[in-house]
Amino acid sequence: TLKLVIVGGGSSYTPEIIEGIIRRHDSFPVTEIVLVDVEMGKEKLEIIGKLALRMIEKANQSIKLSWTLDREKALENADFVSTQIRVGGLDSRAKDEQIPLSHGFIGQETNGAGGIFKAFRTIPVLMELAEDVHRICPDAWIINFTNPAGIVTEALLKHSAHKKVIGVCNIPYNMRHSTAEMLDAAPEDVKIEFVGMNHFVFGKKVYVKGIDRTADVLQKLVDGLDYSPANIVNLGWTKEFIDSLKLLPNPYHQYYFQTKDVLEKDLKAYEEHGIRAEVVQGLEESLFAIYKNPELREKPKELEKRGGAFYSEVACSLMDSIYNNREDIQTVNTLNNGAIPDLPDDAVIEVNCVITKHGPRPLTVGPLPHTVKGIIYQMKAFEELVIRASITGDYNDAYAAFVMNPLIADEKRSKAMLDELLEAHKTYLPQF
Ligand code: G6P
Ligand code: MN
Repeated sequence: TLKLVIVGGGSSYTPEIIEGIIRRHDSFPVTEIVLVDVEMGKEKLEIIGKLALRMIEKANQSIKLSWTLDREKALENADFVSTQIRVGGLDSRAKDEQIPLSHGFIGQETNGAGGIFKAFRTIPVLMELAEDVHRICPDAWIINFTNPAGIVTEALLKHSAHKKVIGVCNIPYNMRHSTAEMLDAAPEDVKIEFVGMNHFVFGKKVYVKGIDRTADVLQKLVDGLDYSPANIVNLGWTKEFIDSLKLLPNPYHQYYFQTKDVLEKDLKAYEEHGIRAEVVQGLEESLFAIYKNPELREKPKELEKRGGAFYSEVACSLMDSIYNNREDIQTVNTLNNGAIPDLPDDAVIEVNCVITKHGPRPLTVGPLPHTVKGIIYQMKAFEELVIRASITGDYNDAYAAFVMNPLIADEKRSKAMLDELLEAHKTYLPQF
């Protein structure tokens, strides 16, 4: 048997991962899938469950699929546990985006103050899940999609007993696929050397069948190559920025290197059609209306309007390679263990890894490029502060994370914003 448990199974993204499992059934023969969710997501869970059943039926595969609110029961005999939860739902996301914006700061679900609060709400919940996994199905791999994915993965690896945890994101995948398209190459022939952390990763070198094409890609970035997910409107990069860094930025870098322009853009978008959480709320409504249709038996195209589109490619190739001990190279979030010698061994980085049945083994990246060394140090130290505060629930720890975040870095305003967010989210922050 091969059992997959999807925690947060009622997510509108789930049809993607179901499609991925169906498509890989020959090499990754899942026999059982259990979708788990919480009371709040009960209705969505059932709609997704029924759609998933129709998809499996159409594919004519012998996968047993069920859904439940009983997580402990679901975990029995699991081989893989994927997590895609949103503690507090989209309402909480709206607060993460809106409150910082109203204080004049970037309001984003994984960066700045919003990202910090998403971590505060999420880490305790996933710590509990990891402890359950460790007790009930100790051999299972946790494949964590829950944001902020890098920080959450580091928190679990540092503080939970369960050590089989891998963090994943679609950004490296998107970067590779868009680059391939632009270079007229097959995605599997394109290799990007990555350096950094989740949503803070840079591309160092691009190779196509072993030939260094970095310079061409950097030029295309200046010309407007865009590999942003649907949730980010790309503002382009200046020639000076690209020429001096000689690195491929990821779409989230706009928050750090174009802060004022992004603020202006986001404020305008907010006035025109609301914050991203509201846009996503609208998208979800239409997605669930589509999912309910008993004639629908596949993943609808509309799902591509979500920023996380194609995340299942990442999750499914990873599980397939672990299961088959493929020893291929994939980009995931895992312990540094010396891959970047200037960062701690127990820091989680987003890096190319050889994927074996024992999990990911990072390839050596080497020292950090001098231009981004300072900001990567700061971001990593900041992430550690977030993890500490998530666990201690100590006000000073939370404040330290705020004031040391490069998107905040303001003594008085840190306090005002922190206080408002603590109050707004208090139902989901038992540790504070
Ligand atoms: C990107 C990120 C994901 C994130 C998603 C948000 O793809 O890599 O981590 O969850 O965007 O998309 P959404 O449609 O929810 O705004
Ligand atoms: Mn991501």
